[in-house]
Amino acid sequence: MKILETTKAFQAWRVKLNAKAAYLGVTGGTSVGIVPTMGALHEGHRSLLKRARIENDFVVLTLFVNPTQFNQASDLEKYPKTLEADVRLAEATGVDAVFIPRDSEEMYPDTYRYQVSEKEFSKELCGASRPGHFEGMLTVVLKLLNLAGADRAYFGEKDFQQLTLIRGMAEAFFLPTAIVGCPTVREEDGLAMSSRNLRLTPAERKIAPLLHAALTGASDLNQARIKIENAGFKIDYLEDRRSKDGELRRFVAAYLGEVRLIDNVVVGVRV
Ligand code: PAF
Repeated sequence: MKILETTKAFQAWRVKLNAKAAYLGVTGGTSVGIVPTMGALHEGHRSLLKRARIENDFVVLTLFVNPTQFNQASDLEKYPKTLEADVRLAEATGVDAVFIPRDSEEMYPDTYRYQVSEKEFSKELCGASRPGHFEGMLTVVLKLLNLAGADRAYFGEKDFQQLTLIRGMAEAFFLPTAIVGCPTVREEDGLAMSSRNLRLTPAERKIAPLLHAALTGASDLNQARIKIENAGFKIDYLEDRRSKDGELRRFVAAYLGEVRLIDNVVVGVRV
């Protein structure tokens, strides 16, 4: 497994795949699947890597805690870092290359003068309380997909708003990368897997699954709100949204102590 620390090394790795195929006279055989992450990998990430492994000839994992998508410096500082374990998980899952930019200048040689923005959905839900978050996220994802020359990119449905915006960006900019959404992976008690779960105290960890239980077990939005607040969460937002294909999804973001958890579930479909 290759460890790549510069954008130049990443691009050279990608070019070599094509050159090798051309030399061998093979058509196809060089498809690349990318799994962009901020590290602190868990079973949710492993499921993305496994799917990428099945669907592509080469799999690249990226580990980069992207500073431009954090609107609070303290949140960035506290983001869990488990680099050695992440690299071991990648190796065990059959990843071909891991891109770990050695610093943020590597990703932002333009000092973030150029940015991707979306004017509607990115301002709602998580975007309403985290100004600039989705601009930072979309910008870094575009850079990573370009560097990888990725055929497919894998994202979890836990961050459904993120997934929707990335799909929109891929469509708007005619990206050649297929965006693959993968189901949320949950702990046995229903808590959506997230790197942020590592920051919960043991007492908070016991309460945390009540967020998902409230989303799935309430008869309506109001009852869900009462259940979540009674469990001790401070709600950032709790909203139902209908997608273009008629699916009704319930979205929540709520604080448990200092940790902001998000989740979403399908609560209905239009027939
Ligand atoms: O979901 C994440 O971990 C991040 O938002 C992503 C997509 C890796 C971009 O930094």
